Amino acid sequence: MTTHAGKERADRPWAVFAALVPTRAALATLVLMLLALAIAAFVFAPPARSQGESGARYTGVASCAGSTCHGRMEGDGTVVRQDELMKWQEPSTPGGAHSRAWAVLGNNRSQFIARNLGIGDPAKAQMCLGCHSTAGTARAAPAEDGVGCESCHGPAGGWLASHYAGVGTNADPEREMRGKHLANLSAGLKKLEDPVVRAGVCVDCHYGSAADGQFVTHRIMAAGHPRISFELDLFSSLQAHHQEDADYGWRKFGAANRRTDHVQMWAVGQATAIERSLALFQTRRGTEGMFPEFTFLDCHSCHRRIFDQAKPVRTGLDNPGRSIPEGMPPYNDENLIMLAAAARLAAPALADQLAIRTAAFHKAMATDRQSAVAAAAQLSQTVAALKSAFASRSFSGADAFAMVDAISAKAISDRYTDYSGSQQAVMGVDTLLNAMVSSGRVTVGAAAGIRGDIDRAYAAVKDPNAYKPSEFQASFGSAVRAIGALR
Ligand code: HEC
Ligand code: HEC
Ligand code: HEC
Ligand code: HEC
Repeated sequence: MTTHAGKERADRPWAVFAALVPTRAALATLVLMLLALAIAAFVFAPPARSQGESGARYTGVASCAGSTCHGRMEGDGTVVRQDELMKWQEPSTPGGAHSRAWAVLGNNRSQFIARNLGIGDPAKAQMCLGCHSTAGTARAAPAEDGVGCESCHGPAGGWLASHYAGVGTNADPEREMRGKHLANLSAGLKKLEDPVVRAGVCVDCHYGSAADGQFVTHRIMAAGHPRISFELDLFSSLQAHHQEDADYGWRKFGAANRRTDHVQMWAVGQATAIERSLALFQTRRGTEGMFPEFTFLDCHSCHRRIFDQAKPVRTGLDNPGRSIPEGMPPYNDENLIMLAAAARLAAPALADQLAIRTAAFHKAMATDRQSAVAAAAQLSQTVAALKSAFASRSFSGADAFAMVDAISAKAISDRYTDYSGSQQAVMGVDTLLNAMVSSGRVTVGAAAGIRGDIDRAYAAVKDPNAYKPSEFQASFGSAVRAIGALR
């Protein structure tokens, strides 16, 4: 099993979870309850509402939970672990977050948010269900499942019956497994091993989408919802319930030695996040009442202290990447900064265009909405080109080191003047360090040895109000130097 040193720690800035998940002992009961719920949904749901976007049918978590399927107590299946259900709801790790996503809508924080918004019971409000349950987008799935298997793997109606038929009977089991996987994909299983597909799936909820109930507006945040922060590769590892070995390589990529390319996953994740943000900004989501939708902007440009004395005190820092006049709130450019670093290394032909269009977009934000929307559309094209460049290139262990250098190069690090960008930089180096471990460039022990440096950098971006750019630069600098020393 790939070891991601330190990833299962509970004190990450975003690692806040309630102990709402049943113990192992209660698991069997839960499975039975889920089964009953799924059958109920199955029988009573009107057919027109039980169709996914592709027309495929959602079957609910219970249909995956059999003890001969994904409901084993130990991860000892011959092809896949088969204890995925248990990992999905493991209370001690962020991996259990999706199973309790609906349950949190009943907690005090959700009640507080709902009262502020005047939306009644949050557990029934589409504004919340869109991301906190499969039911938000697939009405036939039981809301109680939270974010179930099919939210990510796709509606199982088309492949449920065929995907577990025995393998290994053929003279060429590897080819047979590969063939079966391809057949499942064409029957509607999502190709989550593909970074572009996976990023699209996660970003629907970990950034937002145009679908009903899948967007956290500034009003929802002001009502008490946490700010959403995301990094595809890191969050994938945090919720992983699978294991990459030779048969995984065969199934997913058609070669025993192929594994997930974590640097690529990170880079594609950055491009997808900003692509989604720019796309939504161009739609009606881009405004709220007579105002721009503040979600798209740098939170701290508005949420600062005011000094009014004779001797002026500036609370912001000059940022060479943002060509917007002082006094106006800039677009949240956390992913654009990461993308600038990735482009220099992995798609240099597009790096200048990205820089020019990023600057033009920031500048257009100070002109009028029409100009900003037009500049966003142009920038989106560059981002899309970068995304395909990353997706069609493979990254080596040496690239991971070069990427850490790129993220910490002066031209890039001068742009870490706000909280979100700085937090994205720390997640970036953490994920790249893990990529070095999984590609064998760095040993697990060596990575664990510098965990303290990474954790100090995380500490500098833990509390938005305590964030100080200079302190961040210092601890980030030592984390980067510690990684460099492993080269
Ligand atoms: C765009 C998707 C999306 C929508 C819409 C959304 N949420 Fe969330 N919510 C998330 C994500 C993602 C997290 C986890 C944030 C993190 O840890 O990065 C979260 C976290 C939370 C938390 C904190 C979870 C915890 O374990 O304490 C609460 C409470 C919450 N949401 C309630 C709500 C309520 C109430 C609504 C409706 C008003 C809502 N959410 C709408 C995506 C969404
Ligand atoms: C938040 C998204 C998400 C949810 C929810 C989710 N998975 Fe996954 N799952 C993934 C990702 C990403 C992978 C790794 C990529 C891949 O191999 O498909 C994965 C991998 C797997 C694998 C290994 C596939 C292989 O061929 O080796 C199995 C089996 C699996 N999941 C079953 C489940 C089951 C059962 C549930 C529900 C109890 C579930 N998953 C819920 C995202 C999710
Ligand atoms: C249908 C919406 C949805 C989809 C799709 C989704 N998530 Fe989530 N995810 C959530 C919500 C809501 C939460 C917060 C639940 C909570 O805190 O109780 C969450 C929490 C998480 C957490 C825990 C974060 C923490 O603060 O501990 C991780 C890790 C995560 N998601 C990874 C992923 C990945 C990787 C994907 C794509 C493979 C993905 N998610 C797809 C809705 C979704
Ligand atoms: C363009 C300016 C602007 C931006 C950018 C902005 N906010 Fe706000 N925020 C406001 C205003 C105005 C209020 C309402 C204050 C009031 O009601 O007195 C507010 C209120 C809030 C509140 C409620 C608590 C409070 O102090 O009233 C939270 C939480 C919040 N914002 C979070 C965020 C987050 C997170 C971001 C970034 C994603 C963000 N804001 C971006 C202007 C902004």
